[in-house]
Amino acid sequence: MSTTTTDFQRWASTHQQRIEAQLQTVLPSPEVAPQRLHQAMRYAVLGGGKRVRPLLAFAAGEITEADAGRVALAGAAVELIHAYSLVHDDLPCMDDDVLRRGKPTCHVEFDEATALLVGDALQSLAFQLLAEYRVTDDPSVQLEMVKLLAAAAGSRGMAGGQAIDLAAVGATLSLPELEFMHIHKTGALIRCAVLLGARSGAALAAAELGQLDRFAKCIGLAFQVVDDVLDADATTATLGKTAGKDARQNKPTYISVLSVSDARKHADELRRDALAALDGVGERALRLRQLADFIVLRKFR
Ligand code: IPE
Ligand code: IPE
Ligand code: MG
Ligand code: MG
Ligand code: MG
Repeated sequence: MSTTTTDFQRWASTHQQRIEAQLQTVLPSPEVAPQRLHQAMRYAVLGGGKRVRPLLAFAAGEITEADAGRVALAGAAVELIHAYSLVHDDLPCMDDDVLRRGKPTCHVEFDEATALLVGDALQSLAFQLLAEYRVTDDPSVQLEMVKLLAAAAGSRGMAGGQAIDLAAVGATLSLPELEFMHIHKTGALIRCAVLLGARSGAALAAAELGQLDRFAKCIGLAFQVVDDVLDADATTATLGKTAGKDARQNKPTYISVLSVSDARKHADELRRDALAALDGVGERALRLRQLADFIVLRKFR
């Protein structure tokens, strides 16, 4: 293994531990009433997941010399929204999945009503964090960060993308339609993670913010293309979620219109576009570049 790979793995593992600790702290104690809801919230969030969104926030924060404690809070807010989206995505009325992060899904371990409430409560908690703690120097920037998260999670972001996904089951979407869906259901929150991380630190010039935004859009789309590839090309054991489900459920994915190898090629083009967007940013973008490689080149999880 190369020194660069080991160095990235060390960085990722340190920051994964940091976000895990942050999430542990902000989630309500399982002993506090209503205990079952709090246990289920912790079950859905803790001890699993790659934490890609918080890692992107930390990496973007390095560009603006953001305080890591502030980025941890902003990254936790994004991860809570992501965890909520997974709990709802797995419900019988959506993808009807029984396995997530190598464990029974939230509604299987608890029950459907609890899983619904877990999603509701995680979403509220995410916004509470951004409202309650100082995550950047300028209060007006903090307000913008709240708006960014709201837009990324809402009907013109993740929730909207999920609606398109469900409405398209059994249909054949064109590549532009698939792209539109993926940009919303997955890309929006990933883009938001990058922008929140950067905005926790010093102000960036509009041009640099634009470059970062282009990076984030490309890598957000690539992320879901790779997720589609892995559903078709990896195993349940390595994914920690049921493989092969998209085809069985007639889901609109890149694999429903492209071969696995063409979809991988497409993801790699997006990775290159993402890296090209960072051309002017220099060494400070090292971790973002490494994360782009990790997201697209991974073979499991
Ligand atoms: C899975 O996301 C769902 C998508 C949006 C594609 P991740 O692959 O980030 O899932 P975890 O958080 O690592 O479990
Ligand atoms: C989910 O996409 C995107 C979300 C907003 C949660 P998928 O349905 O493909 O995610 P997995 O494969 O179940 O993790
Ligand atoms: Mg889904
Ligand atoms: Mg799913
Ligand atoms: Mg999937």
